[in-house]
Amino acid sequence: MLTVAIVSQKGGSGKTTLAVHLGSSASRAGYVSCIIDTDPQATAAAWGDWRGGEDPEVITTPPARLAKTLSNTAELGAEVVIIDTPPHADAAAREAAKASDLILIPCRPRAFDLHAIRATADLVKFSGKPGFVVFNAAPPRAPSLFSEAAGLVEEIGLRVSPVVIADRAAFHHGTAAGKTAVESDPLGRAAEEMHALWLWACERVNMPARKHERKSRSVQS
Ligand SMILES: Nc1ncnc2c1ncn2[C@@H]1O[C@H](COP(=O)(O)OP(=O)(O)O)[C@@H](O)[C@H]1O
Ligand SMILES: [Mg+2]
Repeated sequence: MLTVAIVSQKGGSGKTTLAVHLGSSASRAGYVSCIIDTDPQATAAAWGDWRGGEDPEVITTPPARLAKTLSNTAELGAEVVIIDTPPHADAAAREAAKASDLILIPCRPRAFDLHAIRATADLVKFSGKPGFVVFNAAPPRAPSLFSEAAGLVEEIGLRVSPVVIADRAAFHHGTAAGKTAVESDPLGRAAEEMHALWLWACERVNMPARKHERKSRSVQS
């Protein structure tokens, strides 16, 4: 089971947005997937309700029960799990990081925002798991801003995902209807960016971006 933790001590950085989009990408790719929402605000869970039960399933759990919830989920056949976490909650982020194969830290590519995730960076480094900052809600075209921001990320000892998610209305457009950007505007740039993030995440953990590819590979080997 692939487990991706989305963490950042900063609220409003895009944790839930990334969680619901990656969870949906996993389902669309044919994987049995779910989102585990450890945030008491339960935003991802509300999105799941608005979605009317369509995949991916969203499960809420208190951080202290995360390990048990993950083992139950694995027993039930989940193949991809995305963990959404609350801001300002070291314990929750630590538990999620510990349980994950890959940690994503959404952050606006701005000095104040990057400064505000230093404690998250320490927590990720301490976990020993691969952690990447994903620039989110970024201005669509600003190469100098990205190189400057990437330098700041390096300073705090993290790596940067090469996929940048821009500030786009499509990311919140269909939210109240439980839709992702891919579902509300399949040919749009937002859908393209999130798909690129899914492809990159799969590559990082050496997992086929579509489930059926796994079958054909195992037949060949
Ligand atoms: N790339 C983006 N473009 C536009 N709006 C975004 C983007 N990412 C997040 N948002 C919006 O910003 C707000 C905070 O995002 P959210 O995912 O809830 O952050 P967090 O879970 O870290 O608190 C939400 O209203 C969300 O729709
Ligand atoms: Mg959230």
